[in-house]
Amino acid sequence: MELLFFSFPPSSPLLPQTCYDSQVPFLVITPILFSSLFLLSLVLLVLLSSHQWRHHPKGKLLPPGSMGWPYIGETLKLYTENPNSFFANRQKRYGEIFKTHILGCPCVMISNPEAARIVLVTQAHLFKPTYPPSKEKMIGPEALFFHQGAYHSRLKKLVQAALLPSAIRGSVSEIEQIVLNFLPTWENTTINTLQEMKRYAFDVAMISAFGHKRDTEMKGIKQLYQCLEKGYNSMPLDLPGTLFHKAMKARKQLNETLRRLIQEGRENEKEGGGLLGNLLGANIHKVDKLSDSQIADNLIGVIFAAHDTTASVLTWVLKYLHDNGDLLEAVTREQEGIQRKIIEENRRLTWDDTRHMPLTTRVIQETLRRASILSFTFREAVQDVEFEGYYIPKGWKVLPLFRTIHHCADFFPRPEKFDPSRFEVPPRPNTFIPFGNGVHSCPGSELAKLEMLILLHHLTTRYRWQVVGDEDGIQYGPFPVPKRGLPVKVTPYKK
Ligand code: HEM
Repeated sequence: MELLFFSFPPSSPLLPQTCYDSQVPFLVITPILFSSLFLLSLVLLVLLSSHQWRHHPKGKLLPPGSMGWPYIGETLKLYTENPNSFFANRQKRYGEIFKTHILGCPCVMISNPEAARIVLVTQAHLFKPTYPPSKEKMIGPEALFFHQGAYHSRLKKLVQAALLPSAIRGSVSEIEQIVLNFLPTWENTTINTLQEMKRYAFDVAMISAFGHKRDTEMKGIKQLYQCLEKGYNSMPLDLPGTLFHKAMKARKQLNETLRRLIQEGRENEKEGGGLLGNLLGANIHKVDKLSDSQIADNLIGVIFAAHDTTASVLTWVLKYLHDNGDLLEAVTREQEGIQRKIIEENRRLTWDDTRHMPLTTRVIQETLRRASILSFTFREAVQDVEFEGYYIPKGWKVLPLFRTIHHCADFFPRPEKFDPSRFEVPPRPNTFIPFGNGVHSCPGSELAKLEMLILLHHLTTRYRWQVVGDEDGIQYGPFPVPKRGLPVKVTPYKK
């Protein structure tokens, strides 16, 4: 997943942040260096004139497309073009399945919903998830994202069980309390929406991971996690002083803290709540126990997967509601209806209330489509594969392009328009996949929607927000979000 996934510099959703950071030195590259690079490229060109991608079994057809220059492939084009037009231009020229070559990896990109389904669902065993080794090291190699087969499905069941509606419906009050604590701190101040949403989504992720909060331990975990996060998108250089090194150190300390919690759980033979409870429960009841590191890697993995994603989507929701005043008023009316009922019945927001927010739900769906914060996911062919009349060699990356599918006018007319009413009719099968599809699809989708609904209930009925500055545009941090994380001035809502 692009998520823990892969980080995207502004010009390209494919390249790790490290490459983006390294743009600065390019500004001072001298003409001499340029000439050397040019000469080097020429030599490489000659050496690789009959280059490897052309060698494939006779009669087998690789997908159409350009592999670009030897080694460099089309990486520079992806860097310099808007990634959306990079994909769109190639789709126009070569069709919905095309090959390219990015960062040394031959890739097949797929923007056809049925073909994406084959990769993610029906033939998923032929396409394994693939992540840069540095990311695997940092999250923990035993986290479920990185696996296929029996280990993955065992863990997936445990993770899913902790995030099913039946498991999370009891968390509504706790999540609501987080919102009620946050909102007054925003009043009459300018907040960085992305940063605040990250704080919120992190607190919710901690509940889903650990169940009831033990404040002192949670504080320690939070601090270490923040350090880990800072190094996550840095150059993977494990030398003293680098962000990566500090992050790896924090990762080790985090392991120690988590091991203590896990040991405590084992000794008490008490399962507790949240994902930790489920993973410990698997230990208590099954012969085939999970090791401490398997539990720790999956706890960290879920927090990683849960918080930047949800925070980025929430930031877009605020942007779209801000830009569409009538829609904001309509959402407010829907939420005020629920608020009146809650006051009349002298109770707090419940899970059932969140099931009766059709317009707000459609706003979230349309945000997931329009912003498509996960532009695509990565898979790798585990063997030579015959695919829709083409040949995909073993080891090639295969990328279902979520964003391109979500922005196809055949499925979503006038795709650039923010129009929640399009979800009054269910989308065609496999055309709306913000949470992925198949064995690796997102187990946290219901929790993500729930926390967005709870926040929007209180925010729209009590506050208004005005974007500060007139800078439109997108930044990648690591997901695409409005420029500068959307600074907004929050004021009380006067009816
Ligand atoms: C709006 C927010 C979110 C979005 C857009 C999102 C999107 C996705 C997508 C597209 C995938 C599949 C990636 C692939 O096939 O390679 C995924 C996987 C995953 N997500 Fe989410 N996610 C969100 C929130 C969450 C939350 C809140 C949690 C947990 C509490 C979570 C946990 C996971 C996990 C554990 C996986 C890996 C599943 C596996 O490999 O089997 N996500 N997510």
